[in-house]
Amino acid sequence: LRADEPAHSFSLQGGRTGWLISRYDDVVELLKSSSFIKDQSKVFGAISSADAHSNEAKLFHNMMLNVDPPDHTRLRRLMQPSFNPKEMLKLAPRIEQIADSLLKDMEHMEGSFDLIDEFAFPLPIIVISELLGVPVEDRHKFRKWSNTIVSASENEHSKFAEDVKAFVEYLDYLIKERRENPQNDLITGLIHAEEEGDKLQGNELYSMIFLLIIAGHETTVNLIGNGMYALFEHPKQLELLKSDPNLTETAIEEMLRFHSPVDSSTARWADENIVLHGKTIQKGDMVIASISSANRDERKFKNPHLLDITRKPNPHMAFGYGIHFCLGAPLARLEGSIAFRKLLRAFPHITPAGSLSDLEWRSVFLLRGLKELP
Ligand code: HEM
Repeated sequence: LRADEPAHSFSLQGGRTGWLISRYDDVVELLKSSSFIKDQSKVFGAISSADAHSNEAKLFHNMMLNVDPPDHTRLRRLMQPSFNPKEMLKLAPRIEQIADSLLKDMEHMEGSFDLIDEFAFPLPIIVISELLGVPVEDRHKFRKWSNTIVSASENEHSKFAEDVKAFVEYLDYLIKERRENPQNDLITGLIHAEEEGDKLQGNELYSMIFLLIIAGHETTVNLIGNGMYALFEHPKQLELLKSDPNLTETAIEEMLRFHSPVDSSTARWADENIVLHGKTIQKGDMVIASISSANRDERKFKNPHLLDITRKPNPHMAFGYGIHFCLGAPLARLEGSIAFRKLLRAFPHITPAGSLSDLEWRSVFLLRGLKELP
């Protein structure tokens, strides 16, 4: 596609057209352009009030990732201080403790474990649960709901609606409980912001907590899993990283580029007709940026299909670009770096249990991650 059809169109349900944009420079333009917007109602008209009060609307419609300025600017301003790199660094000792404890359990597994289930998945989930103030013991429920929601295209609508409802009911309970017993956590902070009215409005409290839980569950797991997979594919790079842990930070950036945990951007909608590579993207068309393709674009990266953990500079797009650039990037980078330093020290002889080509990838929307990595 990058070579022959950098703006590729496809049909969507309801007769609409979608576009997949695959070259690095075009992806940058798309993600920074104000001609591609998030708010569908501006393109297709307002959603009906019945829809606006549904469980799905509570979670999705006002989500920071789904809105444009000025609402996006207000939400981003509210959240940014809690996720800046300095604030995240304060979490490092606790993240190290969690990693140590998971690795200790793995040492008792007689030499064999599934890296996803035992390490890559629980580490970021415990961290985001503690940060938000979600009881860690409820994380199994979130795993199920989160999985249904990101696999929505595979599931029947009824299962999706059922899990969305369960999620909303759980958030109702959590928000009520935290209003009565405020804690030193992010959910309490968001409740205060809602009470101030001008900072968080309507369903935004629900959709913000929801977005952070989903992002915390479905992304960093793939950085750790895909990163280890990439190192197994490139044994010399694995040896290099083990011999020089100071390369961990550049290695994490290269892992993010090489098997990007978030495969594509979320959808944008054209707010006007736009001509790209001789084709016309019509007002109202849906447009998606292929992040993983941009990250392998030979026009931008030298030897893009080689993993080079010393690569510098590495202007990959794994966290997106523009106003929706990943809020959790400093947290994900910190978790990734602690995870690899600790994992390779605890298990210097780590090897895949079978052939890499037998491993299966999860079939989920926008994300790329392994089902298991034994
Ligand atoms: C946005 C990737 C981890 C919270 C994004 C976007 C990407 C991304 C590509 C932009 C999507 C778009 O423009 O359509 C990743 C990757 C991660 C990661 C690769 C891990 C390796 C996290 C974590 C959190 C988080 C741990 C929070 C706990 C968010 C939020 C947004 C976002 C809130 C929306 C920002 C906005 O709309 O302004 N992420 N993410 N992410 N991410 Fe992440």
